[in-house]
Amino acid sequence: MSDLTIDPIVQFGDWFKDAKSKETKNPEAMTLATSTSDGRPSARMVLLKEFSADGFIFYTNLNSNKALELSENPQAALCFYWRSTSRQVRIEGPVIRVSEERADTYFASRSRGSKIGAWASDQSRTLVNRNLLDQRVKDYESKFLGEEIPRPTFWSGYQLKPNLIEFWTERDNRIHERQLFKLDESSVWQVSSLYP
Ligand SMILES: Cc1cc2nc3c(=O)[nH]c(=O)nc-3n(C[C@H](O)[C@H](O)[C@H](O)COP(=O)(O)O)c2cc1C
Repeated sequence: MSDLTIDPIVQFGDWFKDAKSKETKNPEAMTLATSTSDGRPSARMVLLKEFSADGFIFYTNLNSNKALELSENPQAALCFYWRSTSRQVRIEGPVIRVSEERADTYFASRSRGSKIGAWASDQSRTLVNRNLLDQRVKDYESKFLGEEIPRPTFWSGYQLKPNLIEFWTERDNRIHERQLFKLDESSVWQVSSLYP
């Protein structure tokens, strides 16, 4: 057994802190895997904005493909890999939307440019011509000129409540270490080791 603590959220926090001090770019980038109700999976990167035992939170467009898949099948998986620390973390669980208040607070903290970007992007829909997007950015800049930019109703956050977290550490000769934390029926984390 390695240097893991018994609380996987604390453990994640320790590893994340380590990655933040060593990774050159985007230590908060994670793969988000979702799937349709008939089992067709898809994956993409998103940024982790907050985490606790209640959930790992990311923000996105509610009309995007990932959001449509989450409405069909509100179960997802996350995967982090930090090259600088040679570690991987996999997280699985049900996904719900964050509260409107929480989304408002986070949106308000974003840069003006990112707020405009959220309004201008019809995420995951076909863009026939890049100029159309540039024009939409300009249009929203004019619309909100000199004003606070509100959060679009089609933009919010999701929180994945973990029921499984696996910590993977690279070791020599591919004899890696894997520790699996699973929530049991009493909501207590049970830990076991896995063959690499
Ligand atoms: C490092 C990185 C971080 C990203 N972070 C986000 C994010 O936090 N939210 C988001 O909606 N898209 C983010 N994206 C873009 C997504 O990967 C994806 O292209 C977009 O959300 C559309 O995905 P979908 O069509 O599957 O919904 C990020 C991409 C990269 C490479």
